[in-house]
Amino acid sequence: MYKTTAKETLAIQTKQVMPNDTNALDTLFGGSLMAWMDEIASISAYRHCGRVVVTASINNVSFDLPILAGDYVTLEAKVSRSFNSSMEVFIDVFVEDSLGKREKCNEATFIFVAIDQKRNLIRVPELIPETAEEKSRHKSALRRKQLSLVLAGRLNPKDATELTSIFYKD
Ligand SMILES: CC(C)(COP(=O)(O)OP(=O)(O)OC[C@H]1O[C@@H](n2cnc3c(N)ncnc32)[C@H](O)[C@@H]1OP(=O)(O)O)[C@@H](O)C(=O)NCCC(=O)NCCS
Repeated sequence: MYKTTAKETLAIQTKQVMPNDTNALDTLFGGSLMAWMDEIASISAYRHCGRVVVTASINNVSFDLPILAGDYVTLEAKVSRSFNSSMEVFIDVFVEDSLGKREKCNEATFIFVAIDQKRNLIRVPELIPETAEEKSRHKSALRRKQLSLVLAGRLNPKDATELTSIFYKD
């Protein structure tokens, strides 16, 4: 099966925060940002496997800064690791104000699963990380996936090989 480099999965989108995206404080509604992240991350996962993907899990979401109406929000999504039918996509979110000041405001990881028209799972290609950041995120992705599975009740903590130091003391 073919392999894909992490950079080939990069998907970027910039949006301006409009009044219908905001809450009562005129800052971006978290649910709108989650929808934008889901959309761009699914495009990244599609670029990796070329198949229909569905969101299986949303993890490690942080909202570090309020984002104001009128601000520009740029979402950068890249697959950090592939497993069997699933892929982790890492999303970095940056906010830019009207004076051009740009800073990172949010990040998250989403797990997508590739399926066919009958909803059968499809094996996805291996992902090749190249940069230091891609290698670091690739390495830590297994820990995040196991934690997600444990929290979803899909993996016994005893079988979470990357999490033994959290659940079990020597
Ligand atoms: C996601 C879905 C396809 C998983 O199907 P399933 O029959 O439970 O299959 P499995 O348990 O074998 O899981 C398939 C893969 O997803 C992974 N996975 C499932 N739930 C997960 C979770 N909560 N966290 C991390 N990975 C998860 C499994 O580890 C497995 O990965 P692998 O094949 O790479 O080893 C199925 O639950 C589904 O269709 N959910 C609805 C998806 C959807 O509609 N999303 C849109 C938002 S509503």
